[in-house]
Amino acid sequence: MTGGIAPGAGMCGWWPTGIPEHYHNNIVAGDALSFISSLPPASVPMFLFSPPYNLSARADGIGGFPNRGHYPADARMGARGGAGKWKGAALADGYTDHDDAMPPAEYAAWQRALLSACWAALSDTGAIYYQHKPRVLNGIVQTPLDFVPGLPVRQIVIWARAGGINFSPSFYCPTHEWIVVIAKPAFRLRDKAASGAGDVWYIPQESSTWHPAPFPLALAMTALETVRPAFVVDPFCGSGTTAKAAKSLGIGWIGNDKSAEYVARANAEVAAMPEPLFTQPPAVQVEMAL
Ligand SMILES: C[S@@+](CC[C@H](N)C(=O)[O-])C[C@H]1O[C@@H](n2cnc3c(N)ncnc32)[C@H](O)[C@@H]1O
Repeated sequence: MTGGIAPGAGMCGWWPTGIPEHYHNNIVAGDALSFISSLPPASVPMFLFSPPYNLSARADGIGGFPNRGHYPADARMGARGGAGKWKGAALADGYTDHDDAMPPAEYAAWQRALLSACWAALSDTGAIYYQHKPRVLNGIVQTPLDFVPGLPVRQIVIWARAGGINFSPSFYCPTHEWIVVIAKPAFRLRDKAASGAGDVWYIPQESSTWHPAPFPLALAMTALETVRPAFVVDPFCGSGTTAKAAKSLGIGWIGNDKSAEYVARANAEVAAMPEPLFTQPPAVQVEMAL
């Protein structure tokens, strides 16, 4: 990391010099690529994020659903088997500031640019936890690996959800997603015991949050607890799940989202959480002290 790291004053996180102070334990509003590019090179120990999935892409006439959002408002979620698993009405509305309907090639180029920018900002012992999902398009499976621009993939962790909603006679209903771990050679888990979390995480999806597509708090908790970074960065922070998990574990966080509405709501919810009992020294610092 640049310039060594120091504990934040009475707050979560151990911060390298060069990270703007207003980023410390805060979620900011802006475009993800600009935000990531504003981070100093080799400064971030861990990225954890789930980008928009481009579920409404219709440029090739295949897949997705008409025009915007994850599902059209009249998609009859119950008929899709989805009611009660995700919040149907919220999904139907899509995101406030992103219609999730880019031409596929443009979307792939965007994802690769995002991961390249994360890689540049990643510390020498860091890892990117990239949460995305395989998806059948044109009868051929597209996987999150299609978006990784030649970076070293350490592992694919499976997030096994409690069921799925995309029923089709063309393929079995998908019930899992991936967390692609893209890591610098010196990246290590918190310790050997953390490996016991395994590479299949059985976690039901959230059904009671206001955001249309959050990942579960337990997913973020598992990722952070098994790495214990000095702080974590989520450039697509949505409802602030990563920030909430980090704060509850005494780990620092920086979030970003394009929607100012989501950012305000997420920051208010994180602020309302009790302060952690102590700031965890990051695993790498403990190792150095031993
Ligand atoms: C899959 S959701 C992330 C949900 C988040 N993990 C959570 O648990 O709430 C993707 C998020 O990306 C945001 N988004 C879309 N385009 C963006 C962009 N260009 N830059 C930053 N955020 C963007 C959306 O507003 C949405 O909140």
